[in-house]
Amino acid sequence: MTESNTAPQRSNQVSLSAPKGVPDYIPPASSTFIRVRDEFARQARVAGYQHIELPIFEDTSLFARGVGESTDIVSKEMYTFNDRGQRSVTLRPEGTAGVMRAVVQHNLDRGYLPVKLNYYGPFFRYERPQSGRYRQLQQVGVEAIGVDDPLLDAEVIALADRCYRSVGLTGFRLELTSLGDNTCRPQYREKLQQFLFKLPLDEETRRRAEINPLRVLDDKRGEVQNLLVDAPLMLDHLSAESRVHFETVLGTLDDLGIEYTINPRMVRGLDYYTKTTFEFVHDGLGAQSGIGGGGRYDGLMAQIGGQDLSGIGFGLGVDRTVLALEAEGVTLDGVDSRVDVFGVAIGLAASKRMSTLIDAIRAAGISADMSYGGRGLKGAMKGADRAQARYALVLGERELEAGTVAVKDLAAHTQVDVALTVDAVIEAVRR
Ligand code: HAM
Repeated sequence: MTESNTAPQRSNQVSLSAPKGVPDYIPPASSTFIRVRDEFARQARVAGYQHIELPIFEDTSLFARGVGESTDIVSKEMYTFNDRGQRSVTLRPEGTAGVMRAVVQHNLDRGYLPVKLNYYGPFFRYERPQSGRYRQLQQVGVEAIGVDDPLLDAEVIALADRCYRSVGLTGFRLELTSLGDNTCRPQYREKLQQFLFKLPLDEETRRRAEINPLRVLDDKRGEVQNLLVDAPLMLDHLSAESRVHFETVLGTLDDLGIEYTINPRMVRGLDYYTKTTFEFVHDGLGAQSGIGGGGRYDGLMAQIGGQDLSGIGFGLGVDRTVLALEAEGVTLDGVDSRVDVFGVAIGLAASKRMSTLIDAIRAAGISADMSYGGRGLKGAMKGADRAQARYALVLGERELEAGTVAVKDLAAHTQVDVALTVDAVIEAVRR
């Protein structure tokens, strides 16, 4: 028998823990998580995005085609397995490819454009777990699909900024750049490769330069960065159209009063980005500082078999936003977990009557709970305390015989006896 070092031993069986790198959100911390997720989704709705609920797993080929075979996500981090029908399926590592698949499959791209969609939920990446880097991560995302308008890029960025501010976060910054389009990116890629191939790079980095040279710019090693000081940058090689596009985005952000830093060396972990690409960074988080990111993707829809329409979106990391709030010392009002009314019944007959009474009170829209397990008065009142109830309904044998119930106001420390009917109790509580 082995002692688990994460959970106490309770029986002679080995106790179980969540899989490595997978967080639990338990009360009361779970209420911050829900507040952040719901507020982000609410802000998206306010900006005209409609909810889309997507499958947690998809055909593996969707991500291979959509996210890109050369990305770390696809080559190393996917949870891929064969189902019982021997089809290869993958737990979604991100949301954009799935949204695009659904848009094409259901012909949403044939209606009014842009299609503006919002989603949230868990995503799965087999990354090395550390603080803020999980194997099951949570995002709230939006995608605005079908129109290539730089004003829409600015809208999406401004919406992300508003999401963070709306939960009280302040210590973050926005970095952005343009990755160009298919008229200037191929030439730039070649130029960058010519530069990289002249450097004394190790075998693996050289291979990366062949497959995805942009990713080399993101190498975290100081000695590699030293070699890259004079590397050509995409921003200096934009087509006229991409340049005007980017300048319009920047100008609109200025008009909206949103501060940003241009980071021409930004590299994102997904291959589909073109033109505007951005990241929100929080300095209170250590190495995993990206609290959200996104960008425009010109070729993605065509890549997965649809029309050739552009889109733009973001994914905001809910887990990291919760950590960033903690780092800033911001506490959110919890989701209301207290109840208005708590039933304290002594004895079997009283408990049975109480359970129908509580059910009727809930049906009337008043939150209510009761004690279970045949507790005595003191033990049952503890339950009322724990639920932070405003009123306790006390029903013992004596009250049952008299056809009354005691309504205790737990804040005012007063008590009245009322008739043991749903109407009388609700009236007393509402009063
Ligand atoms: P992403 O940058 O891969 O973009 O992820 C977005 C955010 O999810 C990150 O900034 C981070 O906050 C959070 N995140 C990612 N991986 C982890 C992890 N292992 N643990 C905790 N949090 C994590 C996307 O996924 C794109 N689909 C975003 C997008 C939408 N682009 C266009 N539309």
